[in-house]
Amino acid sequence: MLVLGLETSCDDTAAAVLQDGKKLLSNVINNQSNIHSKYGGIVPELAGRSHIDHVDKIIRQALQLAEVELKDIDLLAVTIGPGLIGSLLVGVNTAKGISYGLGTPLVGVNHLEGHLLAIFLQKQITFPFISLVVSGGHTDLYRVNNFGQYQLLGRTRDDAAGESFDKVAKMLGHKYPGGPIIEKLATEGDATAHKFPRAYLEKASLDFSFSGLKTSVKTYINKHINDHSANDIAAAFQEAVVEVLTRKTIMACEKEKLSRVVVTGGVAANGALRKAVSAACADSGFESWFPDPVFCTDNAAMIACAGYHKYKNFPDSKADLLNMDATASLLLD
Ligand code: KG4
Ligand code: ZN
Repeated sequence: MLVLGLETSCDDTAAAVLQDGKKLLSNVINNQSNIHSKYGGIVPELAGRSHIDHVDKIIRQALQLAEVELKDIDLLAVTIGPGLIGSLLVGVNTAKGISYGLGTPLVGVNHLEGHLLAIFLQKQITFPFISLVVSGGHTDLYRVNNFGQYQLLGRTRDDAAGESFDKVAKMLGHKYPGGPIIEKLATEGDATAHKFPRAYLEKASLDFSFSGLKTSVKTYINKHINDHSANDIAAAFQEAVVEVLTRKTIMACEKEKLSRVVVTGGVAANGALRKAVSAACADSGFESWFPDPVFCTDNAAMIACAGYHKYKNFPDSKADLLNMDATASLLLD
C-alpha cells in the first residue's frame, strides 16, 4: 500500500511517500525558518502563505523521488490539527482536492499521533509504552496502549520545552528555531556555572512547567548583561530542562508499571536529552527508543505512517470529505 503523507501544521511544508507503513520512498520538507527567523518566532499569516506557494511543488518532488505518480497512491494522510489554522487548511484542502479528483481514500491525522508513531518508521515497538512528546508546541507524557489508544498522563502547564529553548536562544541574541543553537552553545559551556530552577510541581505530578526557568534565565542575563557566558547559560538551561524531562519520564514508567519508553518531537533531536533518557532508562532496567532526528522534527513521513496504521486498524476512519476540517486545538486522547 502506497501512502502519500502531507504535513502543513506549522512552518514546514512536507510530503512523503511510504510503502506498507515501513519503507520510506521519499521524504521532502520545505522549512520556512528563513522567513520567520528575523521575527524571533513563527508569523502565522506568513506561514500559511508560504505553504500555499510550496505545497504543489513539494508533493510533486515527493512523488518524483519515490518514482510513482499520484494515481498510484492508495491512501492520502494529512495533518488535521493541532496547529496554526491557516497552515493546516492548506494541507487539508490540498488533500481533499486530490481525494475528490482521483477518488483516493483520505485519512485525517492528529499531528501528535504522527510524532507518537514516528518511531514505527524504524522499529515496531511492543505496546504498551510510555511516550514523551516534546516539541515547540507540546510537552506531553502519554501511556500508549495500542494504535489509536493514547492516555494523557501529564502535560506542560505553561510553555512547551521547545518554546523555552526558542525563547532562551532569543534572549541570547539568536534566531528561531533556538533548540539546535542552544544545543551547540551548550557543548562549549559549563552546566555547573549556574543552577537554574527545576519545577517538579506537586509530588507525583507528571505535569511540567518551564516558564519559571525561562524567567530565571532572563533575570540572570539582565543582571549580568556584560559578563555572562552564553555557552554556560545554554549548558545550565539545557541541563535543567533535560533533568526534569528525564525524571518525569521515569516517574511515568514507575507509576504505570511500564518499562518501554519512546521520546519524540523536535526536542527529542537533542543529543543531551537522548543521552540522559537512555542512561536513566538503562539504570532502571527500562528500554528506550528515539526516532532519528529527521523524524523527530516535523515531517510528513510520520503523518504517512500514522495514517497507514489508522486506516489499517480502523478502515472506517476514511474521511467524509464534506465534513472533514482542520482544528487548531485538536486533542489526542
Ligand atoms: O516537532 P517540531 O519540529 O515542531 C512542533 O511540532 O512544534 O519541534 C520544533 C521544536 C522547536 O522549538 C525547536 O527549537 C526544537 O523543537 N528543537 C530542539 C532541537 N531541534 C529542534 N530543541 C532542542 N534541541 C534540539 N536539537
Ligand atoms: Zn511537531
